[in-house]
Amino acid sequence: MNTAPASLTMLRIGATVTALLSILQPVLYLLKFAGVSGVMKVHGITGQAMFVMCVFAAVSAILWARASGNKGLMGHAIGLAIGALAQVALGELKLTTLHITLGIAMLAGAIALAVLAYRKPGSPTTPVAGEA
Ligand code: HEM
Repeated sequence: MNTAPASLTMLRIGATVTALLSILQPVLYLLKFAGVSGVMKVHGITGQAMFVMCVFAAVSAILWARASGNKGLMGHAIGLAIGALAQVALGELKLTTLHITLGIAMLAGAIALAVLAYRKPGSPTTPVAGEA
C-alpha cells in the first residue's frame, strides 16, 4: 500500500492549502476593482491564515527533513513562512508596492513547494512506523 509518512502528508496538506491561499489573495484584491465590498478585510484575514499554514508547512517540512534528509523542501518551506510574516507586516503597514511584488514571488514559491512536495519529496532514510 502507498502510505506516506505522517510528516510528509502534513507537509503536502500545508503546502497545498498555502498555494491555494496564495492564488486567492490576488483574486480578492482584483475583486475590489469589480466593486465587491469588504473584500480587503477578507484579504487581511486570509493573509493571516496563510501565515499560520506556512508555519504548519515549515514545521512539517522540518520533521520530514529529519526522516528523509530532504533539506531543500525544509529551506523552501521556512523561506515561505518568513515571506508570509513579511507580507502581513507590509500589508498592515500599507507598503503596497513591496507587498504586491513579494505577493507575486510568494505565489510562485507556494505553488513550487506544493508541486515538489508531491513530485520530489525524497524517501525516508529511517524505517517509518506502519510500513513493513
Ligand atoms: C499578489 C498578491 C497580493 C496582492 C496584489 C495584495 C494586495 C494588497 C493590498 C493592495 C493591500 C492593502 C494595502 C493598503 O491598505 O494600502 C493588502 C493588504 C494586506 N495584505 Fe495583501 N496582497 C497580496 C498578497 C498577500 C499575501 C500573500 C498575504 C499574506 C501572506 C497578504 C496579507 C495582507 C494583509 C495582512 C494586509 C493588511 C490588511 C488590513 O490592513 O486589513 N497579502 N494586500
